Amino acid sequence: MSDIGLFETIYSTRSMRRLKPDPISPEILKRVIEAGIHAPSGSNFQNWGFVLVDGVDDKRFIRDHYLANYRRLEREGTIPSMANIPPERRRMFDSAIHLAEHMDEAPVILLACTGTDFPTYAELGNPRSITATLHASIYPAVQNILLACRAFGLGATLTTLHYFFEDELKVRLNIPTDKEIAALIPLGYPVGRFGPTTRAAVDGVMHWGRWGQRRD
Ligand SMILES: Cc1cc2nc3c(=O)[nH]c(=O)nc-3n(C[C@H](O)[C@H](O)[C@H](O)COP(=O)(O)O)c2cc1C
Repeated sequence: MSDIGLFETIYSTRSMRRLKPDPISPEILKRVIEAGIHAPSGSNFQNWGFVLVDGVDDKRFIRDHYLANYRRLEREGTIPSMANIPPERRRMFDSAIHLAEHMDEAPVILLACTGTDFPTYAELGNPRSITATLHASIYPAVQNILLACRAFGLGATLTTLHYFFEDELKVRLNIPTDKEIAALIPLGYPVGRFGPTTRAAVDGVMHWGRWGQRRD
């Protein structure tokens, strides 16, 4: 495991979409999931489950459906096609297409699953409170997983395109009907180097007391 500090781990955890097929040891995968489940969840329900997909046919199924949907969204204009992407963003889309085309070569595709209902809020008549809390109860675990992968030198990318074939995927992998797949994360040792991530400056997103108020 890397002995870099917390902040360097955070700042250098970027999407790693070009992955080697080399296997990942079960011990490391267990530590990665263990880091995930140390995250908070609403009411500490821990209503989650993590499926590690490593079967060749299952990974191909995911690749085929992910890629078909990527291409469809491109045709429909939801995802811009390469010709319409500004030069500074082309590298990212190029690697996103690479991931879509080669996803089955990743040794493991991790599915982070969460409940489809949040019991405490079920009777409040406020659907947003349920949806927001459900997702707020799994993405901290997902981020812990991304950081733990970074610490072990593993590349990962949070993806959500599987929402377009989630029902078929759940049936295939025996995922219960009361669970949703919140994130699909291909894992593997990366071809390239980690970070730094590119983000806008922090001053532009800090608001003091009221939205829009800045302090020097
Ligand atoms: C909710 C969400 C959905 C994402 N979906 C995809 C995806 O379908 N395919 C992909 O290649 N990257 C996906 N990403 C990764 C983002 O594109 C990436 O995190 C962002 O461009 C910042 O780049 P970085 O992670 O390299 O710093 C997703 C990220 C988030 C948070």
